[in-house]
Amino acid sequence: IPVQAFDLVVIGGTGDLARRKILPALFKRFCAGQMSDDCRLIGAARRDLDAAQYRDFVRDALREFAGELALNEASVAGFCAHVDYVAIDARGDMGWQKLSDLVATGEAQDAVRAFYFSVGPSLFSDIAERLERFGLTDSDSRVVVEKPFGRDLETAQALNAQLAQYFDEGQIYRIDHYLGKETVQNLMAVRFGNMLFEPLWNAQYIDHIQITVAESVGVEGRGEYYERAGAMRDMVQNHLMQLLCLIAMEPPAHFDPDAVRDEKLKVIRALDGVQPHHIVRGQYTASDGALSYREDVGNERSKTESFIALKCHLNNWRWAGTPFYLRTGKRLSHRDSEITVVFKDTPHSIFGPEAGRHRNELTIQLQPNEGITLGVTIKEPGPGGMRLVDVPLDMSFAEALGPAADAPDAYERLIMDVIRGNQTLFMRNDEVEAAWAWTDPIIHGWEARGDAPKPYDAYSAGPDDAALMMRRDGRDWKGLEK
Ligand code: BG6
Repeated sequence: IPVQAFDLVVIGGTGDLARRKILPALFKRFCAGQMSDDCRLIGAARRDLDAAQYRDFVRDALREFAGELALNEASVAGFCAHVDYVAIDARGDMGWQKLSDLVATGEAQDAVRAFYFSVGPSLFSDIAERLERFGLTDSDSRVVVEKPFGRDLETAQALNAQLAQYFDEGQIYRIDHYLGKETVQNLMAVRFGNMLFEPLWNAQYIDHIQITVAESVGVEGRGEYYERAGAMRDMVQNHLMQLLCLIAMEPPAHFDPDAVRDEKLKVIRALDGVQPHHIVRGQYTASDGALSYREDVGNERSKTESFIALKCHLNNWRWAGTPFYLRTGKRLSHRDSEITVVFKDTPHSIFGPEAGRHRNELTIQLQPNEGITLGVTIKEPGPGGMRLVDVPLDMSFAEALGPAADAPDAYERLIMDVIRGNQTLFMRNDEVEAAWAWTDPIIHGWEARGDAPKPYDAYSAGPDDAALMMRRDGRDWKGLEK
């Protein structure tokens, strides 16, 4: 479906995020016919390039990151015809008038103007001020900002206040790219598009829920950022929190931005503080030819966690007493993101103790190999007594849907939502602040105690203490160990 004409100005257009994500995503939407002739992509950055040089930069980025589509020279050339560039100084006035003049010369009268702040948050305020001063924005313009959105509640509030000086909340699109993932959106479809699950989706029937987002990659040259963030700020405060919200929230009345975000906010606000003994932090050590975390970031004394597992509770009627276990880390045995909902035992076993303990488990596999599996208990075939066995009702999206399951990348979806003006998959100011309000005391707690993360072997399932934390509760982690 073609969308409205737009000018997307990528500030920081020569940066890593632009190269890896934004340019390839837009190119793919161009190939899908979603960029009409009057749409433009305008790169703006400090580098002194002209438009032709920037187009070369774009071509290289597509070749590296846009996959097979970029092999088609005609498509790449067609896309590059939409590309322009202006050199700007985010902290000075250089280039801004030129950018303003360029934006004003767009062919489409009613083109949507979106400004993607693909730069560190310390520049947000300077950029916003210049956008306004040089007449680049009006009440219809949109701005897109990326994580990290602050490093604690105070800095997030300050960023929100800076942006609010220039833009209404309805113009601000805070990206959490997990919300753009097809399978993450599917969480809402599974929960609220089926009669089957929702009646059972509460503390009465669910024993506990696990959320695992495991990566096999290390810090990949982002050591400087990661050292200041750690897994808690990098992954839990945003991506895992969003997954928790979608799995735990009440059904919104409508699938519209504020209805969904109101419900997510209630989840974050219902989160209880986390007890220190319900947190395990880890840091990978060298193994299997991989460097240790400390070698990767060049800090022999680093106390930053590259792994975290924690148990939390939601203080509300639906989830009282149901633990949620969250776990994420780098350099784990493999890439595996999944959510497992473990149901309670049946109230009474008519088959006697020898039938064993059987519990239904619903596993939502987010990446890779997206799909859903429901563990169902049946009779073990054979002439013997009534022995029970668990079998999977298994559905791989790729098998069930064929090519239709080839989902667009999260950034494709999110950039087009910005153009469409749909904020459902973006974080609202109060959501981000509530997430930091929960995260801050946890981080302050381990800082005050001087806790050091537990070492774990690169390419393992994380520190033993994470498994122990589960075992103490008479449970096991699902997923990564499989
Ligand atoms: C980013 C984090 O937000 O998400 C990275 O900063 C992490 O550290 C990445 O690797 C994971 O995203 P994905 O889409 O690969 O699961």
